[in-house]
Amino acid sequence: MKIIVTENFDKTCERAAGIIGDVIHNKPDARLGLATGSTAQGVYPYLIAANRAGKLDFSRVNTVNLDEYVGLAPDHPQSYRRFMDENLFDHINIDKKNTIVAKGTGDIEANIKAFREALAEKPIDVQLLGIGVDGHVGFNEPGAVLYDGAHVEELDESTIDANARFFDKREDVPTKAISMGMGDILRAKKLLLLATGENKAEAMKGLLLNEELDVQNPATLVKTHPDLTVIIDRALADRVGYRG
Ligand code: GLP
Repeated sequence: MKIIVTENFDKTCERAAGIIGDVIHNKPDARLGLATGSTAQGVYPYLIAANRAGKLDFSRVNTVNLDEYVGLAPDHPQSYRRFMDENLFDHINIDKKNTIVAKGTGDIEANIKAFREALAEKPIDVQLLGIGVDGHVGFNEPGAVLYDGAHVEELDESTIDANARFFDKREDVPTKAISMGMGDILRAKKLLLLATGENKAEAMKGLLLNEELDVQNPATLVKTHPDLTVIIDRALADRVGYRG
């Protein structure tokens, strides 16, 4: 595991975008695994700026997203499809046909099957990851078991609380999501996990300070990956007690 400690969150995002850019430079038809949430949101402006400056070409890139809420149509303001369109895809020269976000409405079993088939088509060259307050990655929540492939996940109360900030009322937050499984994430060739904020410190301790693989903190499983880069800011590193 490579751990990079930056001055602040903005530098974390800049660094992450640089790594994603390098992957695309080395492989113009790369498959990117993308993420939603405030952390990933900080990275996308850097990718957009590089694209606008003519330094990064997305014309042959294809993407697959970690997850989508069950019950939100693709055009719902809080759907992850909409998030990706508004925060990245609408601003770069990517062909939307080459962007996969699982569909959260309609026949969910069929949508999972389609998502699984899309994931099996080709490996992810770099997977961007944030981390939930409870250690979830994608929407793989703590539990007695974790899952290999794409599946429906019941969201934890703490996840619903954390994501309520994006909805008018807490009751509007979906209680389920379609998520890549832990196996899907671990099969990506390269993992890039970003974190910021003191509410991520407990989960990050499990990733950075010991060798335990803890199903109650799913992010700890990514430490098994042979090409994992973790980027955190100094404030979070201090909070975690990481001295690197
Ligand atoms: C969301 C997403 C995750 C994300 C996490 C943290 O629920 N499903 O992929 O990493 O929560 O989000 P944020 O970066 O907004 O803290």
